[in-house]
Amino acid sequence: MNELDSELVHGQLATLGYEFVSSANAAQVLLYNTCSVREQAEQKALSRIGIVGMRKKAGERLILGVIGCMAERDGLELFRRHPQVDFLCGPGELDRVPQLVDSAMRSLMADPSAALPRPSQHDRAALAGNKSRRTATLAAAEDGLEALDLSRAFDPIASGRPAHTAFVRITRGCNKFCTYCVVPSTRGAEIHRPPQHIIDECRRLVDHGAKEVTLLGQTVNHYRYQHGSAVTISGLETAQVGPGLSAFRAAPTARTTTFADLLRRIHEEVPELPRLRFVTSYPRDFGDDILDCMRDSPRICRYLHAPAQSGSDRILKLMNRGYTVSEYIDFVDRAFAHLPDASLAGDFIVGFPTETDDDFEATCALVRRLPFKNNFIFKYSPRPGTAAITRFADDVPDAVKRARNNALLAVQGEATARVHQRLIGTTHSVLFHEVRSRKGPRRDSNLFSPISVNGQSIDDQHAANPQSADHWQAIGRTQGDIIVAVSSSNAQMFSDFVGSLRQVVISSADSLLVHGDLVDAAATMTSRLPSEIGRRN
Ligand code: 5AD
Ligand code: SF4
Repeated sequence: MNELDSELVHGQLATLGYEFVSSANAAQVLLYNTCSVREQAEQKALSRIGIVGMRKKAGERLILGVIGCMAERDGLELFRRHPQVDFLCGPGELDRVPQLVDSAMRSLMADPSAALPRPSQHDRAALAGNKSRRTATLAAAEDGLEALDLSRAFDPIASGRPAHTAFVRITRGCNKFCTYCVVPSTRGAEIHRPPQHIIDECRRLVDHGAKEVTLLGQTVNHYRYQHGSAVTISGLETAQVGPGLSAFRAAPTARTTTFADLLRRIHEEVPELPRLRFVTSYPRDFGDDILDCMRDSPRICRYLHAPAQSGSDRILKLMNRGYTVSEYIDFVDRAFAHLPDASLAGDFIVGFPTETDDDFEATCALVRRLPFKNNFIFKYSPRPGTAAITRFADDVPDAVKRARNNALLAVQGEATARVHQRLIGTTHSVLFHEVRSRKGPRRDSNLFSPISVNGQSIDDQHAANPQSADHWQAIGRTQGDIIVAVSSSNAQMFSDFVGSLRQVVISSADSLLVHGDLVDAAATMTSRLPSEIGRRN
């Protein structure tokens, strides 16, 4: 979600003529898009804010904006503690970033001395407060964020991110209130975008080369748009506050676009899109209608990121997750009954208040029992503004959290290896993202960050395997988000791989990735590399 926000802000500023540089040292305006989900992420942002503070003290004339969840959560207090911050903008107000940058620029230009006169702090902060939990009509009328999402119409892929993958937001915010989570307070109530806007955005992205679109929502399967009550402003249908959670116990009316309806419409109305994914699924309220639609739509990836968070019913209750372990297992069984080739991933939190060894063992048992391809594992981090921080003492010592984190990563590593082993001999369509050399630092990469699985970088695996003659690797992902490497001794073979989809048969596997051979390797080599024929096995 944050990545998409950065992309949209980038797009807006680029449209206004701002130029982007690759190093913070070369920039005059620094914007940090922050996350508050865990304390560690906030600490990282604070350290960068500290560095900018030192540069400003040393006389550099810079503008520092803090945007995203941390701005929303800390509010004006951030100005007091970090006077080097020029402006704040919460995730619900990102359409106002250009205006805030512009006003900071003007004050910087107006007085070249170090002591800059500043607008009042209220004019330097765009924070939603509790606005997003006001009435549907009011929220819709003030919904500049829909305009920000729609601004992509002018520059669909503004970020420099790989053009062949793109994110499209379908809902914002969350109505769930898990006790540990800041999202409902930093991003507000669930708001659903009009289906036509989403479909148009997917189509534009495909026109600009996207091969894979990922639909985004905190609880993406809660998507629900009620057409009879849509508010229209200046001829434009607006995003809509979502229904209460009880809505998922009743059948939708004829004028509702459900998540399944939305998936089906995108699949049918954007037939040139090779891959459609979605994250993150909330394991409850995930109806058979969605699974039926996935089964009947070959270009919808059979990939479910559905965080279980814990394998202990007692802890799930304290987390207010709204399901039991057996209900989670029923959901997974139902998913595999519809989609036998589905790929399952999730998140777990270890060291939640009062978590005992037995609770933790129940979590390990769940990871052993279900075919998770990977899980993101987090140590519980008490967050201000959440129910958990006021209700429960953070009573699991950090050393225990760390040990449980490592132990669960090891259990997950074995689960990943089992899932990978089962793929040997099967053929998959792979979307390639990167070509890299296993022996040197050279990369033809379209990814910003190194790929890691269950906390381990796939670069570690390259280092462990330096003797191979095939030292070029093309890295891609299956529909199920499994990382696939195809190796060759000749980089030319991969010259047009990034952004392409190819059939690969899996030949070997380990706990990080699977290795494979191109199904049409002979044809590929004949057309491009006659000298290579016969050298590969
Ligand atoms: N502490 C640790 N992990 C958290 N997550 C959310 N809030 C917290 C917290 N306070 C994790 C959950 C969620 C993922 C995005 O971050 O597992 O699914
Ligand atoms: Fe946070 Fe729970 Fe909502 Fe996910 S479902 S965003 S964990 S409150």
